[in-house]
Amino acid sequence: MSLPTTMKAVLVEQTGGPEVLQFKTDYPVPTPAEGQLLVKNNICGINYIDTYFRTGLYPSPKPEILGREAAGTVAAVGPGPNPANFQVGDRVAWLATGGYAEYSAVSVGKAVKIPAGVSDEDLMGSFLSGLTVLTLAKETYPVQAGEWVLLHAAAGGAGFLMTQILKSIGAKVIGTAGGAEKVALVKSLGADVVIDYRSEEGKDWVKKVKEVTGGRGVDVVYDSVGKDTWEGSLEAVKRKGTIVWFGNASGPVPPLPLNKLSPKCVKIARPTLFGYIETREEFEFYVNELFRLLQSGQLKVKIHKIYPLEEVAQAHKDLEGRKSTGKLLLRA
Ligand SMILES: NC(=O)c1ccc[n+]([C@@H]2O[C@H](COP(=O)([O-])OP(=O)(O)OC[C@H]3O[C@@H](n4cnc5c(N)ncnc54)[C@H](OP(=O)(O)O)[C@@H]3O)[C@@H](O)[C@H]2O)c1
Repeated sequence: MSLPTTMKAVLVEQTGGPEVLQFKTDYPVPTPAEGQLLVKNNICGINYIDTYFRTGLYPSPKPEILGREAAGTVAAVGPGPNPANFQVGDRVAWLATGGYAEYSAVSVGKAVKIPAGVSDEDLMGSFLSGLTVLTLAKETYPVQAGEWVLLHAAAGGAGFLMTQILKSIGAKVIGTAGGAEKVALVKSLGADVVIDYRSEEGKDWVKKVKEVTGGRGVDVVYDSVGKDTWEGSLEAVKRKGTIVWFGNASGPVPPLPLNKLSPKCVKIARPTLFGYIETREEFEFYVNELFRLLQSGQLKVKIHKIYPLEEVAQAHKDLEGRKSTGKLLLRA
C-alpha cells in the first residue's frame, strides 16, 4: 500500500469553542513509532471528552488532533512489539488520540481486530461509550437485579447503551432526558420511569425519584451531567447508597465537603474508562464482552449522525447544544 505524505485532519491550536476546530487538507501523515500501527481511519467516534480537551477543561498539549477512538484499516506496522500480530489490511478499532484525521498512529496495546459481522459504524457507536458503561455497571458499582438506578442523560451516547445494560442486569431504571423525543427513546429501551428533567413538571426530578422508590431513594446514581445535577443526585440517593460521577456535560461537580456524605453514609466514585482498561488483559476482557453483545444483537446501537470531517464544528455544536440522541460519528 503506498502511503500519501499529507492528509485531511482537524487541528486544535488553542482552546475555545467549536470555532477552534480547524479543518486541514495538507496535514502530515504520522509515521508509526515503535509499538505503533498506522491506521487509515474510516469512522471516528465523537465523545463529550473531546469538548473538554477543546475547551481546556481537561488540559492537554496543543496543537492537538482530537478524537479518542476510530475504526479503520491497518496501513503500516511500526517496528517493535506486535503481540496481536497486526498485519497491513486488518480491520481494527483503537483507543488513543488523534482520531479526527484520515490516518492515526496508535499503540498496538489499545488496538483490536474487528470481528466479522460487526460494522465500523456500529462499533464506533458503542466502542468507547460501550466499554465505559460496562466498566461502570460491572466494576465501579456492580449493579444487582432489582436495584433502583438513576441514570442522567439516558438518551445520550453513553446513556443509550447504559440503559440497555442496566435493564439486561434486571435493574429498575429511572432515566432522565431533555425533551419528549428523548424521553420516548429511553422508554423504548425498557426504562421503568423516564423524567424530562427540563420540563416544568420534571424539574423537581428528585421528588419524583423519591415517590417512585417509596421515599427511600435509589441504590445508585450514574451522573455524567455534573454541575446542574450533583446536588439533586445527592438528595435522590438512598441511605448507604452510591453516586458515580463520571462526566461534566453541564460543567464539573464543584469541590465537595466530605461531610456532605455523612448524613446518609453515601459512597461516591469518580471513575474513568482508561483506569479500568490499562492492561491488555483488562482491555480485552471488556472488548470481548462488547463484541459478544453486538454480535448477539443484545446491544442496540443508535447513531445520531455521521458527519464529514469538515463538519466537525457542527457536530460539536450539536453535542453541546443537547441536540443529539445516541452517538455522533465522523467519516474520515
Ligand atoms: N468517565 C469516563 O470514562 C467517561 C467515558 C465516556 C463518557 N463519559 C461522560 O459521559 C457523558 C456522556 O458522554 P457522551 O459522549 O455520551 O455525550 P452525550 O450523553 O451524548 O451528550 C451529553 C448529554 O448530556 C446532557 N446534558 C445535560 N446538561 C447538559 C448541558 N448543560 N450541556 C450539554 N449537555 C447536557 C444532554 O442530554 P439531555 O438533553 O437529555 O439533558 C446531552 O445530550 C459525558 O459527561 C462524558 O464526559 C465519561
